[in-house]
Amino acid sequence: MNTQVEQPRRGPSLILLHSIPMFAGIPDSQLEQIAKVAFHRRVSRQTTIVRAGDSTDSLYVLISGSAKVLNSDEDGREVILTLLGPGEFFGEMGLIDGSPRSADVMATETCELLVITKNDFIRCLSENFDLCLNIMKSLVQRLREADRNIESLALMDVYGRVAKLLIDFSEDERGQYVIKRRLTKQDIAKMIGASREMVSRVMKDLENRGYFKVEGGRIIIREKSIPSSPNSQTVESDK
Ligand code: CMP
Repeated sequence: MNTQVEQPRRGPSLILLHSIPMFAGIPDSQLEQIAKVAFHRRVSRQTTIVRAGDSTDSLYVLISGSAKVLNSDEDGREVILTLLGPGEFFGEMGLIDGSPRSADVMATETCELLVITKNDFIRCLSENFDLCLNIMKSLVQRLREADRNIESLALMDVYGRVAKLLIDFSEDERGQYVIKRRLTKQDIAKMIGASREMVSRVMKDLENRGYFKVEGGRIIIREKSIPSSPNSQTVESDK
């Protein structure tokens, strides 16, 4: 596994910091302090940026590229907790409670990152209430997502879970719900706790039923509601 990273270089611009949701509402004087302590880092695809169990040293903001947050067992079986895209941050949990990293974070494409070391992050937090509030809002949002995932794992069959995940990942584009980010069937399977083969079967069926169409490599959802399973017995039996 490639864990090599390029030499960091210092100094994001204020324009860049303004474009990151975590820094929304923070006055320029505070952003200038953050710009002084944050540095850029570029990592290639499949780099493990953060490894579960490691001690915590930094917070990361994804400027471009994408990453997945995952946990795996001794047999190498993986569960993907979430996918991260530009503007999102990770590595805050260990910095806030002092525990080791809770999960792996792996680059799924080349990533441009902004890195803030633990001491600098804690100092920025202590000096800026808006930053604390933005972080708290993100944590609440993640808790809501985790609650919804627990609910769908407990109450939905694979058919419903696939449909729900497609809806969750779709974005409104001029009235159409489009999945813009690259989502493999393997990733979907690892996010909903099903086999890849089962996900393929369910997706084929959903497409045949006109629930979504694929255009130019993008999935366009036609109906934003969870369809009922055509054969819940078959679907539920395969996890
Ligand atoms: P930390 O525990 O320091 O390192 C792993 C990071 O993965 C963690 O901080 C969070 O930033 C991120 N992470 C863990 N679980 C989730 C989740 N359910 N949703 C989004 N991000 C997560």
